[in-house]
Amino acid sequence: IVKGDLLYTGKAKEMYATNDPDVLWVDYLDQATALNGKKKVAIDQKGLLNAHISSLIFTDLAQHGIKNHFIEQLSDRVQLVRRVKMIPLETVVRNAASGSFERKFAVDHLMKFDEPVLEFFYKSDALDDPFINDSQVAALKVASAETVAEMKRQALLVNDRLQAIFAEMGVQLVDFKIEFGLTDEGQVLLADEISPDSCRLVDEKTQKSLDKDVFRKDLGDLTTVYKEVLQRLATVEGSQ
Ligand code: C5P
Repeated sequence: IVKGDLLYTGKAKEMYATNDPDVLWVDYLDQATALNGKKKVAIDQKGLLNAHISSLIFTDLAQHGIKNHFIEQLSDRVQLVRRVKMIPLETVVRNAASGSFERKFAVDHLMKFDEPVLEFFYKSDALDDPFINDSQVAALKVASAETVAEMKRQALLVNDRLQAIFAEMGVQLVDFKIEFGLTDEGQVLLADEISPDSCRLVDEKTQKSLDKDVFRKDLGDLTTVYKEVLQRLATVEGSQ
């Protein structure tokens, strides 16, 4: 496979075309941003750690019947993924209150929900990724009702499996964000990445954050924390 033109630069990844029109090349960068890109810092090994974590999780999900765009990890910072047309929505699933939910409704930190909470945010840097509901999605023609229903269905399946993986690692999955794309055949396919950049993870014993909140709130060294997540994940996945 041959790396082609740069298609897109994200906050922590770069996407390139390849000589195969159905395959994209993803470079994971040693970079972290917060506050919609206003806070940006180089972080040693972050790209490598997130690439490995995301590859392990996507492989596990595929093994558990949740198809996704991941094809293979080429090297420490490089994944090959299936090309899809990204749907400009961030799908957030929450099992307990944190972050924007906690701020918005002034509830206790980590208050547990009886049922997972599902939210969509419209991907727009200019608008700061606003919350968007189903009828707003329909009005703006962002996605069809069938697509939205399928995204919700898959998001809850991802939540079930991720909760199981993290429980085995002694970690509480507080919330996470995923993104979907559409294949040429119109199938909704899980894409983007799943890593501590896009999940809130809390150590069940120490209650310490094992995710990007360490960077957002200056709680310690991000590399050390992400290494810990990869180590525990590799142990769990290795034993299956
Ligand atoms: O900030 P908020 O509480 O809405 O975030 C919910 C979840 O979505 C968190 O796990 C956060 O890391 C993730 N998220 C993300 N990218 C964003 C916004 C939120 O990965 N742009």
